[in-house]
Amino acid sequence: MNTIKKIAVLTSGGDAPGMNANIRAVVRAGVYHGLEVFGVRRGYEGMIDGDIIPLGIESVSNIIQRGGTILKTARSKRFMEKEFRQQAFEQLQAHGIEGMVLCGGNGTFTGAKQFSEEHGIPMIGTPGTIDNDLFGTDFTIGYDTALNTVVEAVDKIRDTADAHNRMFFVEVMGRDAGYIALNSGIASGAEGIFIPETANDYHEFVNNFERSRRGNKLFSIIIIAEGDESGGAFKVAEMFKSLHQDIDARVSILGHIQRGGNPSCRDRVLASKLGAAAVDALMAGMNNVVAGEINGKVTFTPFEQAIKMQHNNMDTSMIDLARKLSI
Ligand code: F6P
Repeated sequence: MNTIKKIAVLTSGGDAPGMNANIRAVVRAGVYHGLEVFGVRRGYEGMIDGDIIPLGIESVSNIIQRGGTILKTARSKRFMEKEFRQQAFEQLQAHGIEGMVLCGGNGTFTGAKQFSEEHGIPMIGTPGTIDNDLFGTDFTIGYDTALNTVVEAVDKIRDTADAHNRMFFVEVMGRDAGYIALNSGIASGAEGIFIPETANDYHEFVNNFERSRRGNKLFSIIIIAEGDESGGAFKVAEMFKSLHQDIDARVSILGHIQRGGNPSCRDRVLASKLGAAAVDALMAGMNNVVAGEINGKVTFTPFEQAIKMQHNNMDTSMIDLARKLSI
């Protein structure tokens, strides 16, 4: 065990439901182990500006169920510059902070790695993003809640699609990854799923559509990841409508409702488990790793791998399943 006494927690990048549960776990586990815990507000922006507040067990009461993040979040351009990282280091030093827990995604971990290499402050990540696009954990914090939000919304869209005999092209989040689209598509019985991990989704869908039309199947819901190479739901709808003017088609972009809302039970538990594990890691002298959960067990993966290998872990059998079930 090393002798770390003061730690800080921050949230960074896009917010994700469960970030508050994660902050709470870091604070409570830290206090449990006799540490002094600080919160850095507005991610790396607050670290540069010294927006740092003490957090005790009461400051994190009644937040486990809340979406967003009480510490606020930001995507910091300044932190990419060495001089601002130096300024951030001086702010941490002024508070005597000896280790950090950072809840975020790839951008957050890239910054953390660079900072720690320059200034020697141990940094432990927890995977907070609705996109589920990080290597080193089966699921990211916020992903389960976002999936449930999408499925609930699509169920509603399906009612109107059914009532009007309409086709809906529904765009979901996922800048670089199709996890939300794939799994919400399977769960909502979508007739087409477009994800960046597979090419030719549009042609496959059109072929399926032509074939099923002859059998009178009514297509209603097509889910498209925003990062799909087709360019998103409006583009796909345009291409499709140019071929099928007779189909009544609409586009629905779900947008930021996917990032908000009360975290699901799964996200609260995951966020709590990984927040406490991150504190353990700091106390054990670890550095530059992400605390994740693989097959139910806490694991620690170096930032470098978590960032680089982000796209390599999609389960292709789920892609096959989606193909089988959407015929
Ligand atoms: O946090 C990830 C994500 O939700 C992506 O899926 C999406 O592309 C992006 O954030 C949108 O971020 P913002 O609107 O906050 O810039």
